[in-house]
Amino acid sequence: MSVHKEFKRITTHSLLEMKTAGEKIAMLTAYDYSMAKIIDDAQIDIILVGDSASNVMAGHETTLPITLDQMIYHAQSVIRAIKRCLVVVDLPFGSYQGNSKEALAAAIRIMKESGAHAVKLEGGSEVKESIERILSAGIPVMGHLGLTPQSIYKFGTYSVRAKEEAEANKLKEDAKLLEELGCFALVLEKIPAQLGKEVAESLHIPVIGIGAGQHVDGQVLVMHDMLGITSEFKPRFLRRYLDLYEEIKGAVGRYITDVKSKDFPNEKEQY
Ligand code: KIV
Repeated sequence: MSVHKEFKRITTHSLLEMKTAGEKIAMLTAYDYSMAKIIDDAQIDIILVGDSASNVMAGHETTLPITLDQMIYHAQSVIRAIKRCLVVVDLPFGSYQGNSKEALAAAIRIMKESGAHAVKLEGGSEVKESIERILSAGIPVMGHLGLTPQSIYKFGTYSVRAKEEAEANKLKEDAKLLEELGCFALVLEKIPAQLGKEVAESLHIPVIGIGAGQHVDGQVLVMHDMLGITSEFKPRFLRRYLDLYEEIKGAVGRYITDVKSKDFPNEKEQY
């Protein structure tokens, strides 16, 4: 039986304690008040206000179109709901890659206007200056390596990254660099499990995987995927805990039938 320490509030320090104690970290995305409240009440460790909002909330094909203002709106909604978990917000595409001063300005807007606790950004050595500048302002940064969806047009596909030695070596170097710069945690997306294990074992900071195998320090999934709201997305790494697409469709169908048949509302459901 594993004994878990009770944390009243999750901080970046709590996550380090969890890694040291061998307790896995559970992270999910959320983008709105109602879902964030349920997830936080269920005792999730981290909510990621992911730029996957661009896909699952706005219906875009990629994460590229979402704006900083839209990320802040989602983050504000999540922050209003939570009491315990750590809230990390993605810096959207274009807000940190070009210029480290703009990166800092974007991170400050997220922290100031939403009340979030940390930001996440994608990439390694290419975004070193942005990470340094954001960290120097006292803003905790989570890294993200492997399949970084903001670079989808460079990759061309959403298939597993770092299968070749050269890319795996670059990923390991970048992971080390992110730790040395002062990132408090790292997301590894869709890479071989063995590489996930090597990186997690070589770093002191927590490594949270999505399709990075079972040996990393924690797991993250997009909430809409694990609840089965996105019915067509079926990568091997995804475990579905509900089939909400069918549940909701069925419930809506029954509601339509009840309205059309004049069964709803009945005498008890009116004033
Ligand atoms: O935006 C997102 O949901 C993410 C996760 C896939 C880690 O970055």
